[in-house]
Amino acid sequence: MDSATFERLRTIIYDSSGISLRETKEAMVSARIAKRMRALGLETHEQYLRVLEHDDGGETTRFLDVISTNVTSFFRESQHFDFLRDVLTARQRSGISKIRIWSAAASTGEEALSAAMVAWDVFGARPVDCKILATDISTRALVKAQQGIYDELQMENVPEQLRRRFFVRMRDGNVTRYRACVELMGRIVYRRLNLSRPPFPMRGPLDVVFCRNVMIYFDNEVRNRLIKEIYRLLQPGGYLFTGHAESLNSLKTDFVCIRPTIYQKH
Ligand SMILES: C[S@@+](CC[C@H](N)C(=O)[O-])C[C@H]1O[C@@H](n2cnc3c(N)ncnc32)[C@H](O)[C@@H]1O
Repeated sequence: MDSATFERLRTIIYDSSGISLRETKEAMVSARIAKRMRALGLETHEQYLRVLEHDDGGETTRFLDVISTNVTSFFRESQHFDFLRDVLTARQRSGISKIRIWSAAASTGEEALSAAMVAWDVFGARPVDCKILATDISTRALVKAQQGIYDELQMENVPEQLRRRFFVRMRDGNVTRYRACVELMGRIVYRRLNLSRPPFPMRGPLDVVFCRNVMIYFDNEVRNRLIKEIYRLLQPGGYLFTGHAESLNSLKTDFVCIRPTIYQKH
């Protein structure tokens, strides 16, 4: 790919998602858009760029689908789920009956489902209005999230006891898959949302926000905007969890760091 085409593609990615790609990522972009080019019957990167430049949104969405990195897993960075359990238990003891959790870069849904399992464990069948909002920019990831079906490898961090309680085991020849049960899926609402473009349409106030392993792709300008909006949406005393490589140190924020990667709005 010539450098002018790559630069244009980088700009489109930044403008439409806030993702800052380094100059060294040309081979990665080239490999990931190859599939889109084949699907559209295009032979050169310049042709694909022209499609994007005259696009009404549809191809840009598919472009971001292939560019975004959707790696995730159940109970990833498990200290956040232990902390969530403590927060929900404390809320329940103080009689709070409405809880709002947001998985802000939900990818294929494992993060939101992990939070739903913790919530179910804490509240059981008690009449607590606990909802989880799962958002992502990738429509492809969200389709998988909404299906709630995972293979054996994706389920490796889910203990057998939780698999039995919350998943239906499905056999297809030699392949075993697991479908999340309606009690979990029913607590989760899935929406497409671009984190680089606040303000966001939800009303809040939120109790806990997972915004993990996505800010690494943003520059400080986009991060500052996002963190300010999360702060606005959280209720006083609410918590923000970030990924282990994402500190708020270099950002302008009123969040108080109470442990590494756990922040509170005072
Ligand atoms: C590496 S995954 C992290 C998933 C999960 N939060 C975790 O920690 O396991 C990053 C996710 O961020 C999403 N993403 C990237 N840019 C985004 C944006 N501007 N708005 C919303 N989601 C975005 C990607 O589509 C991807 O699903």
